[in-house]
Amino acid sequence: MKLKIQNISFSYKSEDILKNISFEIKKGDLVAVLGKNGAGKSTLLKTIAKFLIPKSGSVYCGDTDLFKLPKKEFVKKLSYVSQKPIPNELNVFEMLLLGRRSYFKFKPSKKDIEEVEKVIKKLNLEKIKLKPTLTLSGGELQKVAIARAIIQKSDIILLDEPTNNLDIKNQIEVLKMLKSLGKTSILVLHDINLALRFCDKFIFMKEGKIAYEGDKSIITSKVIKDIYEIEVDICYCGDTPVILPK
Ligand SMILES: Nc1ncnc2c1ncn2[C@@H]1O[C@H](COP(=O)(O)OP(=O)(O)OP(=O)(O)O)[C@@H](O)[C@H]1O
Ligand SMILES: [Mg+2]
Repeated sequence: MKLKIQNISFSYKSEDILKNISFEIKKGDLVAVLGKNGAGKSTLLKTIAKFLIPKSGSVYCGDTDLFKLPKKEFVKKLSYVSQKPIPNELNVFEMLLLGRRSYFKFKPSKKDIEEVEKVIKKLNLEKIKLKPTLTLSGGELQKVAIARAIIQKSDIILLDEPTNNLDIKNQIEVLKMLKSLGKTSILVLHDINLALRFCDKFIFMKEGKIAYEGDKSIITSKVIKDIYEIEVDICYCGDTPVILPK
């Protein structure tokens, strides 16, 4: 089902941060949200994920108004990984099991435990399975946060800088794995080349608005200059553009 973000505006007190944002995503597309620090990318994700209440706007998944869904139903539709995952004294296994909370009443079922084991294997988390999340490295914690979003089995996944703290192998593993899930995903990324390699659609934000959106053909040196105020060359590796700063 299509995800439709319609006329989202958000303000912190009197400061307008998101200004009438609208866009649509085809089912199964991976969308990269790009832009300078402070452009409003995290605020946009937090608003769609209902962590912030917008001044106006709506989010539809097909005909379902996501803002009107009760929490238990909402988390089955949409999962969100914040830019700064917060660790606690729970170990990795327990933290992941909590990601299945909307599927069980009092105690997890065999299926919930199996799902946790599956994601642990998929993301190579076996070695840290019993470690308290407070003791994890930045990259390990990032992978656990992503695993927890996956285990929620939602139709839509929002990830704020999911490759933060990850080494290049883990960055690629995580993005390949997200792509293989075939879910509608919105990713905030700073690495444009990584985005170009894995994403289907690109949204550039500037001062709380969408400045450019489309497929990889919109990414030109003029657009990069307008957004980031830097000069770049664009080379091609097959039909994938590669950004090279001058
Ligand atoms: N709690 C808050 N109170 C007031 N202003 C805030 C708050 N959180 C964020 N802002 C402001 O909102 C604007 C957008 O912030 P946001 O975190 O969405 O940017 P971003 O595009 O995600 O940046 P980055 O790439 O650095 O993560 C910034 O100017 C920021 O200072
Ligand atoms: Mg951010």
